[in-house]
Amino acid sequence: MNIRHDNSCSGEWPSVIYYGQIIAVSDVPSAILFRMRAYSGHVAEKAFEKLMTLVRNERGLDLSSYKENFLLRRLNSRFRILEIDNLGEYCRFLESHHEEYSKLIDVLAINVTEFFRDPPVFDLFEKKIIPELILSQEYTHAKILRFLSAGGASGEEAYSIAIKLHEALGTKINNYSISILLADIDPDCIEKAKDGIYVEDHLKNVPASIKSKYFKHEGNLYQVKPEIRKMVTMTRMDLLTDRIPKFFNVIFCRNLLIYFSKEGHSDIFMRLYNSLTNDGFMVLGRTETLLGTNKSLFDTYDAKERVYRKRPTAFYASRRSC
Ligand SMILES: C[S@@+](CC[C@H](N)C(=O)[O-])C[C@H]1O[C@@H](n2cnc3c(N)ncnc32)[C@H](O)[C@@H]1O
Repeated sequence: MNIRHDNSCSGEWPSVIYYGQIIAVSDVPSAILFRMRAYSGHVAEKAFEKLMTLVRNERGLDLSSYKENFLLRRLNSRFRILEIDNLGEYCRFLESHHEEYSKLIDVLAINVTEFFRDPPVFDLFEKKIIPELILSQEYTHAKILRFLSAGGASGEEAYSIAIKLHEALGTKINNYSISILLADIDPDCIEKAKDGIYVEDHLKNVPASIKSKYFKHEGNLYQVKPEIRKMVTMTRMDLLTDRIPKFFNVIFCRNLLIYFSKEGHSDIFMRLYNSLTNDGFMVLGRTETLLGTNKSLFDTYDAKERVYRKRPTAFYASRRSC
């Protein structure tokens, strides 16, 4: 430690030179504490950068857009289990135990979901949004409808969209070319979605008539029937960095934004905005909202259900008002 006695100071209190500064002996404990905090902050920052590099290189996941508090809370749960008490040690552990990457991704991805999560938004989808989409396709020869379940976890959201389309279109569904893409960063979720098998708990918002129409039931398990499964394709995708396909009529981006910082929000919305058709719909989660400049990209379609509509570019806007 860098402390020397200072005899030049003739004050009432004895003083010392601490890291080049003359300070009273009575101030030494708080100076040490201050320096320890700053130093450990610096070390933590370095370890954080290291963690981000490891996860980016190993799993292609960019943690820099995630909220720091969210990350720290999640990391803490791994620290407790592994009896590790700092980030540096955790980075070393990751480097020597590659299976830990999957556990880390698991704790970062809270993929809680269910069929018809927030039922009123799915009612709005069936009763208002689908009819508008049908109307917009009335005079088109190729009737194409495209949907994205962004951060759709294990598929409940994507299959809920498919069921609502079936219900709303009835036999007319055969006149349409419909595709629903489920995109999620978690490969385990994608595998689960492919099977389309769910425990009863995830179906608590599904009315009995819909259950018997669209699910095969065995014990406590329900499997989505093939006519619904074939409407959904799945892909592992990091919405922050991977290329997102274009021309979606509706994007469901619900309960995903909790993961991201403000900059992460903006990036995601800009990217999703570019992937919507002109005047396409954006559906957010119950507690989510558009921030800052993102607000100017969308009109509010239903404030309560957090449904927004892409503001068309100038060219399309002038055609729409004709
Ligand atoms: C809480 S679930 C939401 C599921 C569904 N949208 C819903 O509202 O029920 C959030 C999902 O976002 C996924 N996720 C987190 N970061 C992501 C990213 N950068 N790109 C794609 N998916 C991400 C997680 O893996 C998780 O499955």
